[in-house]
Amino acid sequence: MAMNGVLRPGHAALRVLDLKESMHFYGNVLGLQETGRDKQGRVYYKAWDERDHNSLVIRQADRAGIDFFAFKVDSPKTLEKLDSDLRAYGVPTERIPEGEMLETGPRVRFQIPSGHLIELYAQKTDVGNGMPYVNPEAWTPAAEKGIAPTRMDHCLLYGPDIEKVQKLFEEVLGFYLVEHIVLEDGRTDLAIWLSSSIKAHDIAFVRHPEPGKLHHVSFLLDSWEKVLRAADLMSMNRVSIDIGPTRHGVTRGTTIYAFDPSGNRFETFCGGYQTYPDCQPIKWTMDEVGAGVFYHERKLNERFLAVVT
Ligand SMILES: [Fe+2]
Repeated sequence: MAMNGVLRPGHAALRVLDLKESMHFYGNVLGLQETGRDKQGRVYYKAWDERDHNSLVIRQADRAGIDFFAFKVDSPKTLEKLDSDLRAYGVPTERIPEGEMLETGPRVRFQIPSGHLIELYAQKTDVGNGMPYVNPEAWTPAAEKGIAPTRMDHCLLYGPDIEKVQKLFEEVLGFYLVEHIVLEDGRTDLAIWLSSSIKAHDIAFVRHPEPGKLHHVSFLLDSWEKVLRAADLMSMNRVSIDIGPTRHGVTRGTTIYAFDPSGNRFETFCGGYQTYPDCQPIKWTMDEVGAGVFYHERKLNERFLAVVT
């Protein structure tokens, strides 16, 4: 089954060590728009071209990492169906009432075998992208503030039992496998890239003994030139760059990995091919894994595998 009503990644909820420092980073350096603060002290952001109220939520905590990652579904009816499908599959779900997150409808939360909390929701207030729905211009000044990605695009999560994660995403949520890296035994996946759309990935997982870890949340840029501009802005603002600008072999995206002030890795990227559920998955073998991850360098760096939050 594929494309059964899960539209796209909707929001990522991150923990940060110092809220003020993080607000400067996400608001001014990455260039997201702050859209609200709630009673819990969480701060909400969206990328300039996103129309829904929020796609990134941060809260202060004593350790960095990800609280949950959510997908928007196409209707309340689909939300109900997927909730009951998850329970029928043996996955307990929790209902989080409308309004627990600002401008966001009821959410269905569940834990996946890798230890991460995933949410589904159908409603979030359309606050627009600063341009009218009738006769809009091409962009707004917000498109030039900071790195200014157009949207929060996907995440890569580290945890155990990724074959069970893949099965759940495929059989219940309608995702399909786009690419994978296979270990030396020729059978076990080290990493999987899954799509619910025609994007090369909406979520990805790497096998890792510790559950619930974040490798990166990714933000989309329009062009390779904007990826280079992002690297300049990272240097100007003394952002710690992990690697890049470079290209991935997997998905073919052009990319920079860097760290927010709390050590959460983020990606600013452009491109990647379009795919469909009938496309045969692309396989990478361990002898070429370096080129799969970093196409120009053709080798992994130690940080890529070891540093997660
Ligand atoms: Fe990525």
